[in-house]
Parts: sequence; C-alpha cells; structure tokens
Amino acid sequence: MKILSIETSCDETAVAVLDISGALESPDIKVLGNTLYSQAHLHEEFGGVYPNLARREHEKNLPTILERSLRESGLGVLDMDFIAVTEGPGLEPALWTGITFAQRLGEEWGKPVVGVNHMRGHIYSVLYSPDTSSEKRELRFPLLALLVSGGHTELVRMDKIGQYQILGRTRDDAVGEAFDKVARLLNLPYPGGPKVSALAEEDRKVNKEATIDLPRPMMHSGDLDFSYSGLKTAVLYKTKGVNLDEVERRAMARSFEDAAIDVLISKTKQAIDTSEVDINTLVVAGGVSANKHLVSEVERLKESYPQLDILIPDQKLTGDNAIMIGIASFIKVSLDPQVLENKEEIKANGNLRITSSEA
Ligand code: KG4
Ligand code: ZN
Repeated sequence: MKILSIETSCDETAVAVLDISGALESPDIKVLGNTLYSQAHLHEEFGGVYPNLARREHEKNLPTILERSLRESGLGVLDMDFIAVTEGPGLEPALWTGITFAQRLGEEWGKPVVGVNHMRGHIYSVLYSPDTSSEKRELRFPLLALLVSGGHTELVRMDKIGQYQILGRTRDDAVGEAFDKVARLLNLPYPGGPKVSALAEEDRKVNKEATIDLPRPMMHSGDLDFSYSGLKTAVLYKTKGVNLDEVERRAMARSFEDAAIDVLISKTKQAIDTSEVDINTLVVAGGVSANKHLVSEVERLKESYPQLDILIPDQKLTGDNAIMIGIASFIKVSLDPQVLENKEEIKANGNLRITSSEA
C-alpha cells in the first residue's frame, strides 16, 4: 500500500510517503519520502509547547513539508492508496491542522483519509529499521508495551494485532513531563528530557551510585499504575532556594533519572511476572525511549527473561514522526479495509485512548 502520512499532534510537523506490504506482525516498510520539522526551539521561551503557536506553525509549514516528502519519493498524491493522519491523543489545535490539511488533500485528489491513534503509532514505530541489513523486526504475541512520552506513561498488553488492553497508567504526570519539569528546576531549556539525561550520564562517569535520596512513588503499590508528580516535588524541595553548582546539578539529574527509570523497570517486570502466559515481546516506545539509561536497563531484562524479544525504536523514531503513523494506518486498514469506504469526518480528540474503538 502506498501511504501518505501526516503527524501534527504536538510540536513536530511531519509528512512521510511509505510503501508497506506483507504480514502485519512484520511488514516490509519502504520509506520513500520523509520530512520532519521540529518547532521545539520556538516553544523554548514558554517552557513547554504553546498550543496556538504549534497550530500556526503547522499550518505555515505543512505545504512545504508535504512538497519535500513527495519530491523525495518521486510520487504524487494521486499515486497513494490513502492518506493517514493523527487524530489523537495530543493538542487539539495542533491535531486539527493535520486533519484539515489531510481532508483537503483527500478531497482534491479523491483519496480516502484514515484517522490514526498516535499512541498505537508509537507502538508500531519499532517495526521500522532504516538499517536494511539488520534482522527484520517482528511482533510476537502476547506483547507488552511500555509507552513513555511527554503526555503518556502506560503499560499496554496486546494478545493479537490490533487489540489493546491498558494494564496501568500514570495517575498524574507522565514520565517525559517529569523530565521536562525537573529540567526547568535545574535551569535547563525545554525540551529538557535529553538535557537532564546528558547531565545524569556525566554523573554516572564519576559516581557508581546516585548520591541524593529520592522517592520511587507507587513502586510497591501492588498495581501497575505510575505517579511522577511526587518525584518532581521531591526534586523541587531539594532545589528550592539553593544555588546548585555544576556537580550538584549533575548529581540531582542522575538521582532523578535513576528513580524515574527504576519505577518504569520495576512495573514492567511486575507486568511480565504477573502475566498468566509468557510475554514474548516487550516494546518500549515514545519520546523517553531515547533515554540511554532506560535503554540499558531494558536491555538488561534479557538476563531475567531470555525468551523475551525486546524492541526499541530506531533513534530517529523515538520522538513523534510520520513514519509510525503510516505503519499504524497500514495495520488499521489491513484489519478493516472498510475504513477506506467510510466517509465519516475525522475529529481531533486530545484524549483519545489507545483502547478506543474508533482508531
Ligand atoms: O513522544 P514524544 O516525542 O512526544 C509526545 O507524544 O509526548 O515525547 C516527548 C518527551 C518529552 O517530554 C521529552 O523531554 C522526552 O520525551 N524525552 C526524553 C529524552 N528524549 C526525549 N526524556 C528523557 N531522556 C531522553 N533522552
Ligand atoms: Zn508522541
């Protein structure tokens, strides 16, 4: 299937042209064109994504980004089987720009438009590797997905393709959000996650263990839910009114990162251990899956669970992108080709659940 996919849920404007075929659990994915523009630097002064600025920027940049991706692919909209666009979750003003743009294109060229769930996109992002010599990626079920982004922290179980069950989620802040808030407390600009992580890595080079005692909220709650606001508040109390020097900042970043990741790993293990049948694949995806410490801790799980396939997105696909939206749309359309006939209007849904029946 030839797919034109569009992602505008947050502060990345992205359009991809894809050719996807084969088995749903391990499709052949050809990226024919891919353009991504990050607005992150524009939101820096607001300390987070400012929805109306995101909307204006998406509107302004979408035509150029589309044109670049098409030019790279050597194809036109007419060559596509359908257009895919993120319908949620995300920032509604931002989502609407992508949806309106996709629908206008669809009308102009007579192509169906398919709405895609962004979080399903993150799961399926692990299926693509730009390295064609590497082993083909395959989802073996039952599958457990740890989704870690700026807006979500969720453990999702899939017993087959297209079926999702939420085992646990954050009760307050998402882990990426906690990284961003701690970054602000350490005077680091938005998006702070990677910067906190870089400081933590510096500390790890000199200290074997974290030196500041921070809580691991919900670690022993007995369920698979998370909470990150208490951890952020603990960092707030320890930094308030104190002028941290460089060494202390590193120590704080490292102690925070250790605590945040410890809880993710512990809950993931609990989810695997309490499953009545062996989990075959662990997917870790979303913006925070770019975190080095998380990746190394996840890879260590292989020692305890040798049967487990661990899938982490390629570096370029950890954050928001249009490739993952295209892959998710391929799976959606393959499972229910009828969606191409539906003329139902797609609506932005900022709080769309991964378990929702619509996408
Ligand atoms: O998936 P994503 O790009 O957008 C959402 O759907 O939210 O995730 C963005 C989040 C931000 O909170 C960002 O700080 C965090 O992912 N992030 C990281 C790292 N890279 C991105 N957090 C920790 N360590 C990183 N290396
Ligand atoms: Zn995302």
